[in-house]
Amino acid sequence: MKETVLLTGGAGFIGSHIAVELLQRDYDVVIADDLSNSRPDVPERIEKITGRAPVFYRMDVSDRQALDRVFRAHDIAAAVHLAGYKAVGESVQKPLAYYRNNLDTTLALLEVMADHGVHRLIFSSSATVYGNAEAPCREDMPTGGCTNPYAWTKLMIEQILRDAAKADPSLAAVCLRYFNPVGAHESGLIGELPNGIPNNLMPYITQTAAGIRRELTVFGNDYPTPDGTGVRDYIHVVDLARGHAAALDYSRSHPGWEAINLGTGRGSSVLEIVETFQRVNGVAVPHRIGPRRPGDLPTCYAATDKAARLLHWHAEKDLADMCRDSWRWQQSQQ
Ligand code: WQD
Repeated sequence: MKETVLLTGGAGFIGSHIAVELLQRDYDVVIADDLSNSRPDVPERIEKITGRAPVFYRMDVSDRQALDRVFRAHDIAAAVHLAGYKAVGESVQKPLAYYRNNLDTTLALLEVMADHGVHRLIFSSSATVYGNAEAPCREDMPTGGCTNPYAWTKLMIEQILRDAAKADPSLAAVCLRYFNPVGAHESGLIGELPNGIPNNLMPYITQTAAGIRRELTVFGNDYPTPDGTGVRDYIHVVDLARGHAAALDYSRSHPGWEAINLGTGRGSSVLEIVETFQRVNGVAVPHRIGPRRPGDLPTCYAATDKAARLLHWHAEKDLADMCRDSWRWQQSQQ
């Protein structure tokens, strides 16, 4: 039986890839997004890839009345909650905006879901809830010790979902802890749209290769890692989207709160990414070693056994795919 899934923030980098995967799995998709981190033409690009159009509402997801109208207009079976501000550095400058937006959107969504008897929620969480935990990060490890308001909002929302699931045993609340999403759909039609100067590594690399940025600064090469540069668990955004489809299946028969890592379980260093990118794309990425970025961890990567056990999902794409698909997307932006 065909189900309708609401994607809050579904026009964004991660959300648009989830929309593609769900439409291709014969779900109907409704996107609610204020476009603060996207562009108006993303829904039509999603349609171009899949041949099926998502329903799109440009709206503030914290507006309960607007959300209520969406739930009245569509028989929503489940929600994937991605709407939220996500820039670590910006969250340090504007903490109140981050707490207000990220928590209000979540509370409004949960209240309207309860009003309409919708019991399945997949939440876009983050590995930053582990603080400076020793890698590999396991879901049963203590969380906290967050180093910025953005990360605290993710942890607070996980707690809100724990308490909501305790109060309503029919609620399935699956918190997916993303590691480092990179790459783009192979069509080159959707991808990351960083606002201004990219904070994250891969968009900075692609803009440097494209000549938009003069050179990449590698934030430190004196970490206790194989080549001294930071190690992270980079996961292709299409693998991440497929993990959400698996979590939606899981939530159909598993009420209760759950946290599950979405990563590859492999750590790659900054210089490994630069070298792979240059090799697979045949382009130069001018770069120099600079000082460490405050707050950065030496190493962070996922334990992946729980995702395999509960979701029967694992990441399939490799660094070459991530670099190739990121570069194709960057070139399509010129
Ligand atoms: C990766 C590595 C940097 C830029 C953040 C958020 C996390 C999630 C993913 C939202 C690190 C190095 C980076 C540059 C560099 N975001 N780097 N030069 O910090 O692991 O995670 O993005 O959910 O919540 O915390 O990702 O891409 O910023 O950095 O050397 O210009 O690349 O030091 O080792 P990070 P990142």
